[in-house]
Amino acid sequence: MCGIVGYIGKQNAAPILMEGLSRLEYRGYDSAGIAIQRKNGIEVHKRCGKIRVLQSSLPKKLTGNSGIGHTRWATHGEPTDINAHPHSSNNGQISLVHNGIIENASQLRTRLKAHDVSFSSETDSEVLVHLIASIQANTLAERVRLALGQVEGTYGLAVLDAERPGEIVIARNGSPVVLGIGEKEMLFASDAAALVRHTQQVVYLDDGEIAELTPSGYRVMTLDATATEKTPATIDWSSQTYEKGDYRHFTLKEIHEQPKSVLRTLRGRLDHRFQTAHLGGLNLESRELLGFRRIKILGCGSAYISGFLGARTIEQLARVPCDAEPASEFRYRNPVIESDTLYLAVSQSGETFDTLAAVQEIKRKGGRVLGIVNVVGSSLARACDGGIYLHAGPEIAVVSTKTFVSTILAFVLLALYIGRMKDLSVAQGKKLIDALNALPNQITKILEIEPECERIAKKYASYDDAYFVGRNLGFAIAMEGALKLKEISYIHAEAYPASELKHGPLALVTEKTPTFFLLPVDDLFDKNLSTAQEIRARKGPVLAITHSQDSRHSEIHELFNDVIEVPKSHECLDPILMLIPLQLLAYHIALARDCDVDQPRNLAKSVTVE
Ligand code: F6R
Repeated sequence: MCGIVGYIGKQNAAPILMEGLSRLEYRGYDSAGIAIQRKNGIEVHKRCGKIRVLQSSLPKKLTGNSGIGHTRWATHGEPTDINAHPHSSNNGQISLVHNGIIENASQLRTRLKAHDVSFSSETDSEVLVHLIASIQANTLAERVRLALGQVEGTYGLAVLDAERPGEIVIARNGSPVVLGIGEKEMLFASDAAALVRHTQQVVYLDDGEIAELTPSGYRVMTLDATATEKTPATIDWSSQTYEKGDYRHFTLKEIHEQPKSVLRTLRGRLDHRFQTAHLGGLNLESRELLGFRRIKILGCGSAYISGFLGARTIEQLARVPCDAEPASEFRYRNPVIESDTLYLAVSQSGETFDTLAAVQEIKRKGGRVLGIVNVVGSSLARACDGGIYLHAGPEIAVVSTKTFVSTILAFVLLALYIGRMKDLSVAQGKKLIDALNALPNQITKILEIEPECERIAKKYASYDDAYFVGRNLGFAIAMEGALKLKEISYIHAEAYPASELKHGPLALVTEKTPTFFLLPVDDLFDKNLSTAQEIRARKGPVLAITHSQDSRHSEIHELFNDVIEVPKSHECLDPILMLIPLQLLAYHIALARDCDVDQPRNLAKSVTVE
C-alpha cells in the first residue's frame, strides 16, 4: 500500500528519495511523487504509474538537501498525476505526503472551501495540506499539531514548509512511520526497508506522536504537546536481505529461503531436556496459560488460513478448544470477549488495519491478546500483550510464502508448549521435536524437485478455473494453495474440503477444471482416493501432492494425471511439506502466464486501510 520516505541532511535528497521509493515498490502502488526543498521554494514532481515513469520525468538538475516522497495506492480518487502525492497548499508553501484515510475529509473540505481554498485533487489527503496551511503558529510542528487535532482518521504523514527549509515534520496515527538516524542526517519511511541502506539505527513513532526533524536530530511530542523520549532500536537485517540477488523474483527467493527461515523461527525455541518449546515473549505464567479455556485466532488472508491450520494443531496437541476467524469480520459482529479466552492475532507485517482493529476491540473489552508477527516493532507487535516473533526475515514479495510456513511453526511451538503442560507425553514431545529438527532438510529436498514442478505447471497454466481439495489439515493447505494460485496467476481457484465435494462443487467438475488434491498418507487416505475417483469419473484432471510410498504407488499413479511426492513428517508438519510444491506450482504457472509475480495486480503487501 502507500509508502512514505523522507530525507534531511547534507546530501542531495532526490536520489535518496527515489532509491527509497523503489525499496517500497513491493508494497504495491499506482503512482509516485517527490517534493524537494530548493533554495527558491519547494519543487514537486509526481506521476501516475511506476517509479521509472517518475524518474524519467525528473529534471537533470534537482538539487536540495531535504525532501519527501510517496508511492500511492489509490483509495479516494483514481490513480492520476493530480491525485498522486505530494499535495501542496494553494500558495505552494506547504507540501505533504500522507498514508491512511481521513474520515472527516468531506466536512473539512467544505469548511476550507468556504474560506476560498481551492482543491485540485479528489483525495482525502489534500485536505490535510490546506488545513495545515490555514493555521497560524510559530513553528511548523505546532501548525501540524493543531491541524491534526481537527482530523479524524489514520495517518502517517510528512510535511515540508518552504519557509522553514531546515526541518521536516512527520506524524503518525494508525499508519507506520520509522525514523532512521544517520550521521548529521535524518531519514524516515513507512517501512524500514527504505532506510537500511543508510542506517540500521531507527526510532518507531507511536500513534498520536509528531516529530520535528533537522539534520542534527529529532524531537518527538504527542498531540497534546507533551515531549516524549524515544529509545533507538537496531534493525537486524542488512540491505542485501532486501535484494533479489540472483533470483528472478522475490517470490522465488523467499520460497527458496524456507529451509533457513524455518531454522530461524525454531532457533533457541526447542527444549530437548523437557521435550517442549521455549517461548520467552508470551509474557504469561504457565498457570495463567493453563487458565484459558479457549483460544481464538484472528488474521486476514494467508494469516487467517495459517490460523485455521494452527487452531486444529493446537486442539490436537494441547487439547484446548481453538478456532480461527477472519480479523476483517470480527469487530462487526459485536463479539463477546471472554476473560478465559486467549486471543492470538496473526500478521506478517504487523500493520494490517483489520487485524489491528480486531486487537483494539478485544483490548477495549478487556481481553488478553498475543501477537504472532514477523516485523519486529510493528504496530501489532506493540499493541499486543506479548507473543511470538517469526524471525522469518523480511518478506518483500506481495504474496506470503516463508512467513506462512513460519506462522504454522509458531502455532506448532505454542501447541507443543501448552500440550507438554497438559497431556502430551515426553515421547510425543520428542517425536514432534525430532520432526521439527528434520524439517529444513526435508524442505531443501522438495525444493530440488522444482524442475519437475515447472514442467507440470506448464500443463496447468492454460486452465481458467481450478479446485484445491483436502481433508482436515490438508484442507487448510488447499485453501493456501488456492489463494497463492489466484493471487499470482489470476486463475480462478477455490478450495473445498474433499468431503464437501459431493455436496455441491462436483457439479462444476469437467475436463476443464483441474483439481489439486492434498493426499497425505494418513487415516483418511482411502476416503481421499474415493473422492479423487469421483472427480476422475467426471473427466476432471487431478494432480496429487502425496507421500512417497511403495505399497500404493501404481494405484496412485494410475488414478492421478500428475503426482508430486514429498517426504513424510509428523502429521502436524505434513501440511508444510505439502505446501512447498503448491508454492512452486503457483509460481511457475504464473510465470507461464506472463504475470507480474512479485506485484500482482490490485494487491498490496500490507493492507493498512480498511
Ligand atoms: C497472501 C497474503 C495476504 C496476507 C494478508 C495479511 O499471500 O499475503 O493474504 O496474508 O493481507 O497480511 P499480514 O500477514 O501482513 O497481516
